[in-house]
Amino acid sequence: MQDILRQLEEKREAARQGGGERRVAAQHAKGKLTARERLELLFDPSSFEEWDMFVEHRSSDFGMEEQKIPGDGVVTGHGLVNGRTVFAFSQDFTVFGGSLSEAHAEKICKIMDQAMKVGAPVIGLNDSGGARIQEGVASLAAYAEVFQRNVLASGVVPQVSVVMGPCAGGAVYSPAMTDFIFMVKDSSYMFVTGPDVVKTVTQETVTQEELGGAITHTTRSGVADLAFENDVEALLQLRRFMDFLPSSNRAKPPVRPTSDPVTRAEPALDTLIPANANRPYDMHELITKVVDEGDFFELSPTWAKNILVGFARLDGHPVGIVANQPMVLAGCLDIDSARKAARFVRFCDCFAIPIVTFVDVPGFLPGTQQEYGAIIKHGAKLLFAFAEATVPKVTVITRKAYGGAYDVMSSKHLRGDVNYAWPSAEIAVMGPKGAVEIIFRGDAGDPAKIEARTEEYRQKFANPFVAGSRGYIDDVIAPRDTRARLCRSLAMLRDKQLANPWKKHDNIPL
Ligand code: HXC
Repeated sequence: MQDILRQLEEKREAARQGGGERRVAAQHAKGKLTARERLELLFDPSSFEEWDMFVEHRSSDFGMEEQKIPGDGVVTGHGLVNGRTVFAFSQDFTVFGGSLSEAHAEKICKIMDQAMKVGAPVIGLNDSGGARIQEGVASLAAYAEVFQRNVLASGVVPQVSVVMGPCAGGAVYSPAMTDFIFMVKDSSYMFVTGPDVVKTVTQETVTQEELGGAITHTTRSGVADLAFENDVEALLQLRRFMDFLPSSNRAKPPVRPTSDPVTRAEPALDTLIPANANRPYDMHELITKVVDEGDFFELSPTWAKNILVGFARLDGHPVGIVANQPMVLAGCLDIDSARKAARFVRFCDCFAIPIVTFVDVPGFLPGTQQEYGAIIKHGAKLLFAFAEATVPKVTVITRKAYGGAYDVMSSKHLRGDVNYAWPSAEIAVMGPKGAVEIIFRGDAGDPAKIEARTEEYRQKFANPFVAGSRGYIDDVIAPRDTRARLCRSLAMLRDKQLANPWKKHDNIPL
């Protein structure tokens, strides 16, 4: 028995060595941690149980039968993140460049299947040279097995990808189908075709970082949700992030007790809205003043900055926040902001996270770029997402809610449960100036008349009371009371039940 135990330990030790000292040193020299070091940071101490440590590839071409490394380039298993079960795979770049073989993919599929059965999130730490070249089509088939599981798991268990090294070619599509993508600056990249192919085909000269680095994907493409300075920061923030998510679509989001009183008033909010309706203010200020302990986990903060999305808690319960940002493009909706918010709303709806929406939107961004870019279809995504969502929806209109954008932003008409307005709200088809220029076009030559008409329109429509008189607004509230009113509404909505008609699935405009 002692001998067998010793052999077991030796085998384990061989697996833990990964690709060996030289390759581990090369990994560290690039500022990257090894696959196992990453898992140690991600999971609660001593909670990670590794599976399939002794799996080897079955390839015999190109001398591969001589090169077998236990684990085959990916560490898989489950453990606890802040006390809750999470499954993870961590690709080991020191073993065949973390490339994906048939056996490597089978390990990933095994933990995904198990996560689905028990209802636990899956985290993928990606650091891979892509398909194992020596295995040819077997490796492509293996990728597709992972893709298929990503799709079936979507909306059942949260899936989060952290890209911590190369992720190129078709391999990008596994992270792309997960719920969130985090990247590490300077050491990770994602692209479908790399700089060399780009150069050959389009004659563009571009570096890996420019083409698909963390900054590119969190500022230009919106493919990734967050960029971090290094592996340690990415993994520690991921632990914090996981705390907002339920384990599956069968579980409730985790409640974290708070000492922040639900009735806390915030008098500073009474003066947040500038006297001049054209002056911006920072919507972050409202969010952080309202949520528990000012803790707002913002996603995509550097892309489509005219809308804010992220997680926070109210009375200890996670909520998804969607908010127009008047500081950027006056808070207009456009293609990117609609896509960003629509995807977020759908995630919240999949996983029973109530949605709190703060509205200050003057409308949709005009222009040929927007129209040719299909703002019609992209804007419809956000409308569709809010309309189909059955989770509790509470909306606060702080200032402008004009035109179609009023309808889109979780209005009463899209089954908003509780819709509040601040006294500064202006709910109308358009702003007073634009409205008067259209309906009193004949008075265009008479500035005094136009001024009087504009004032008349403002008095009549640029307020929350017309909408209130029809019941489209449930109450006009003092800004200082926003937290208390939101907490009370969400408590009332905790056991909300609402179902959409039976269907195979919907056909959201794509
Ligand atoms: C097998 C691979 C590999 C791969 C890297 N390695 N990629 N082995 N299959 N795909 C091995 C290398 O041979 C090397 O082994 C070790 O990993 C580290 O690689 P290096 O090149 O030394 O590292 P580095 O200089 O950091 O470059 C990393 C890299 C480069 C940019 C990822 O390795 C690379 O270009 N690899 C090929 C990428 C690729 O074309 N993959 C297929 C894409 S198509 P030793 O023994 O020397 O340490 C694809 C399709 C997916 O993925 C389809 C899904 C539908």
